[in-house]
Amino acid sequence: MDIRGKTALVTGAAKRVGRQIALDLAAKGADILIHYRESRAEAESLASEIRALGRNAAVFAADLTKAADIQKMTAAIFKKFPSVDILVNSASLFYKTPLENVTEADWDKLLDANLKGPFLLSREIGIKMSQGKGGKIVQIADWSGFRPYKDYAPYCVSKGGLLTLTKSLARDLAPKVLVNAVAPGPVLPPPDMTDAEKVAIAKSTLLGRWGDPADVANAVIFLLENDFINGAVLVVDGGRSVS
Ligand SMILES: NC(=O)c1ccc[n+]([C@@H]2O[C@H](COP(=O)([O-])OP(=O)(O)OC[C@H]3O[C@@H](n4cnc5c(N)ncnc54)[C@H](OP(=O)(O)O)[C@@H]3O)[C@@H](O)[C@H]2O)c1
Repeated sequence: MDIRGKTALVTGAAKRVGRQIALDLAAKGADILIHYRESRAEAESLASEIRALGRNAAVFAADLTKAADIQKMTAAIFKKFPSVDILVNSASLFYKTPLENVTEADWDKLLDANLKGPFLLSREIGIKMSQGKGGKIVQIADWSGFRPYKDYAPYCVSKGGLLTLTKSLARDLAPKVLVNAVAPGPVLPPPDMTDAEKVAIAKSTLLGRWGDPADVANAVIFLLENDFINGAVLVVDGGRSVS
């Protein structure tokens, strides 16, 4: 796929990794539909930055745990844009859930945000893509979907499910829509992580360091530009999963 002139919807794009993916897709010539949930000001500011690059940008809000929100957002998108050629599901919820304390509500929140939401949105957009010119979907998973972190069961299960969803959707949407995943390792610490934890995580990679959101964005672009990779997972973790 030539990314130039395509329309890309990036979820969780207002901040952090999603923002980098949106900016790098815009630099490659895509128009960007910026999805956010709460970070409206950051989403609007990103839209201005993308317009300054000479690309079109629009912002759309949705709580991806709610099917009705997803339908409202996709209806608003298709009112303004004839098609979505690229969907990158980057939005996600991440917090510690030790077994002794984890509640049913935690399980539902994490699975709904990280698995149900990407499923519902991929279905809406993927079916439109397959009825039209086709397209590409990239799910942002996590290497912990293969080898879970301790004390994060619902999160890791959600990401493992997302890896299986990638393969299911690749089958269901073939041949016009290609669906792949990126499984990042440590690229950007959450705001509440201590320095000691950051150092320990850096040491746990084969490279002895954190990656960068741009490493994830590069992998997304690689998958989009290659037209014979389908149902695959690209691990971008500095070798953490094999260390
Ligand atoms: N950071 C890392 O080192 C790392 C490592 C491995 C995997 N990953 C994966 O890479 C992706 C991006 O990582 P990140 O660290 O940038 O993510 P993040 O900061 O934890 O979350 C990104 C955005 O997700 C949105 N979000 C959360 N719950 C939502 C919901 N119910 N509905 C809609 N949006 C929701 C939030 O948007 P608002 O702010 O607008 O509410 C948030 O800003 C995620 O899928 C993550 O699992 C990241």
